Amino acid sequence: MNTLRDLLLAVCFVLLSGSFRPGIVTAQDLSVTSPDGTNAVTFTLDDGVPHYAVTRFGRPVIAPSRLGVVFRKAPPLDHGLSVAHTARRSFDETWTQPWGEKKDIRNHYNELRIDLTDGGDSPRTMTVVFRVFDDGVGFRYEWPEQPHLKAFEIMDERTEFALTNDATAWWIPAFHRNRYEYLYTQSPVSAIDTVHTPVTFETGDGLYLSIHEAALTDYASMTLARTGGTTLEADLVPWSDGVKVKATAPHLSPWRTIQIADTPGGLITSYLILNLNEPNKLGDVSWVKPGKYVGVWWEMHLGTKTWSSGPKHGATTEHVKHYIDFAAKHGFDGVLVEGWNKGWDGDWTKNGDKFNFTEPYPDFDIAELSRYAGEKGVHLIGHNETGAGVENYERQLEAAFDFYNKYDVRAVKTGYVGWSNTSIFRTGTNGEKHGEWHHGQYMVRHYRKVVETAARHHIMIDAHEPIKPTGIRRTYPNMMTREGARGGEYNAPWGGGNGPEHLVIMPFTRFLAGPMDFTPGIFHLVDDGTEPANFTPSTLAGQLALYVVIYSPLQMAADEPKHYEANPKPFKFIEDVPVDWADTVVPNARIGDYLTIARKDRHSDDWYLGSITDGQGRVLTAPLSFLDRDRKYVAEVYADGKDADWQTNPLAIDIHRVLVDRGTVLRLRLAPGGGQAVRFRPATAAEAQSIPAYKE
Ligand code: NOJ
Ligand code: CA
Repeated sequence: MNTLRDLLLAVCFVLLSGSFRPGIVTAQDLSVTSPDGTNAVTFTLDDGVPHYAVTRFGRPVIAPSRLGVVFRKAPPLDHGLSVAHTARRSFDETWTQPWGEKKDIRNHYNELRIDLTDGGDSPRTMTVVFRVFDDGVGFRYEWPEQPHLKAFEIMDERTEFALTNDATAWWIPAFHRNRYEYLYTQSPVSAIDTVHTPVTFETGDGLYLSIHEAALTDYASMTLARTGGTTLEADLVPWSDGVKVKATAPHLSPWRTIQIADTPGGLITSYLILNLNEPNKLGDVSWVKPGKYVGVWWEMHLGTKTWSSGPKHGATTEHVKHYIDFAAKHGFDGVLVEGWNKGWDGDWTKNGDKFNFTEPYPDFDIAELSRYAGEKGVHLIGHNETGAGVENYERQLEAAFDFYNKYDVRAVKTGYVGWSNTSIFRTGTNGEKHGEWHHGQYMVRHYRKVVETAARHHIMIDAHEPIKPTGIRRTYPNMMTREGARGGEYNAPWGGGNGPEHLVIMPFTRFLAGPMDFTPGIFHLVDDGTEPANFTPSTLAGQLALYVVIYSPLQMAADEPKHYEANPKPFKFIEDVPVDWADTVVPNARIGDYLTIARKDRHSDDWYLGSITDGQGRVLTAPLSFLDRDRKYVAEVYADGKDADWQTNPLAIDIHRVLVDRGTVLRLRLAPGGGQAVRFRPATAAEAQSIPAYKE
């Protein structure tokens, strides 16, 4: 009876898991190809040292690269290994995002699991799992439960990525004070030192690769250090005691990911990182709602208001009401208010332990504001700046989110500004203080704890100074968006500006990892002496285009209401543009030069297009083949004016309407530092008669 039941279970398992079959340990079995055969991974043991290599169409993409880990107080698992067992399976499933840049995502791969053992009297096992997709490769380590490996500390990961030629790389440096907030450098791989991921490459063969990680859960984040030539090695962010990862078996590493595409746009429409994450763990997430927001924010960065109390305090009841009125009138869902709670006075970047997350300043009447906002169909967005005082925040976390529940605050922006590299203080067992990095295992655990606690309170998270995204929004759909790059704030007077190339690099690097709360939409682009000048390196049309180019389910209109009120015609695009998409296509793209993205609204038949360029003006073309057949659309075009230029004439904009269909090839004339935004909506019968057809 038991045997029969076991047999039935085994058959079910085989059926459910596709073509699973127990492996046979022979050398030729240790290769696995992607479903269409394009990409392949080969695993080899050279004298007991594990390696993997990646090919595309049989040609090397990653040359044989080492695998393995080094432990504290235990022999490493990086040599003297043999294969104990292998297993394969295929997987093909289409899943639906509750919100996102694309509604339905196909997760299709072939998997190879290899159990390695170091043999001897007290053998230990480590499994390497490869998943090979048509758009790249993911692999990770697993340490199963076992007698001779229980609690362990990883001192180093041997994982290498040996590029086969001196590719061009776009990267930001790791282990620097401003976390991920740097401009990207473009250089040969051979000039890299230690970099954050995602790091993106254009190889000598014209391939586009991006290396990153997926499902970073209870582990150190991975940076990449060049070990010579064009080989990069995983360099994990350490704890203050030098240990990289503290764990007890069973334990998993994140997936190490290599996205592979023939075009730069192919990287943008690769969903490999999401596919390597676990499905939604939260069940019903109807309380998670993407939306647009405004906020008491840019004024602080301009210096016209303060976070701290005093005569210029921004978060006053009256001032916030003005923002609520504006939000309600123009269809925004949220109003962010920074500087509302006690703790901002003095040098808050050094006094993180002084923040109180349930005590507003006396001039901020949250009960009244919550009532006022609710009456107008708007929600306050909470703000928890910790000033890197993480223990202080964790002590108050439940209370902070209870407080927000009480006032119907449904999204919270968090912040972790610190004043040095390792400014996250952790109290040790003897009461001593340890300075931790933002991106080591200690903080990975913290950021996760915040997301989980928020989920229990039905609160959405927008994290600033975060851990980089690794796709956990799939598992925790309340993890909406985050910073984790040099955002719009650096265009404030204090920041020196991002320059016009930054936003034609980030979509191919940082944005591959997940949504970013960049905070676009600055309309006050000319210094007219009315407020401190900012450095926004863009035109008005370029700012509008960012609402399509930058994917974020919580998207800010960052400027002050008065600048939008003064420019109602261009502002109409920000009012119209959605934040939740059914599909995303990339008509043209060149890293560091230009990018055009078109996205289909998830809740209507409309499409939106955004195109941006670097400091050089360009004429691009976009075939509108994504539009429905047999249908005319009104294209509401927001183009750079004839003489527009981000440096000399950023406000010149040409707003007009034309009739288009899927046969139209739209000419996009982008000014230096400029852009173009277009809304396509199905034409009514009357419009199809009256609006002029598009002419080349
Ligand atoms: C840095 C964040 O990126 C910014 O948006 C915020 O205003 C400040 N910290 C203050 O919390
Ligand atoms: Ca920041």
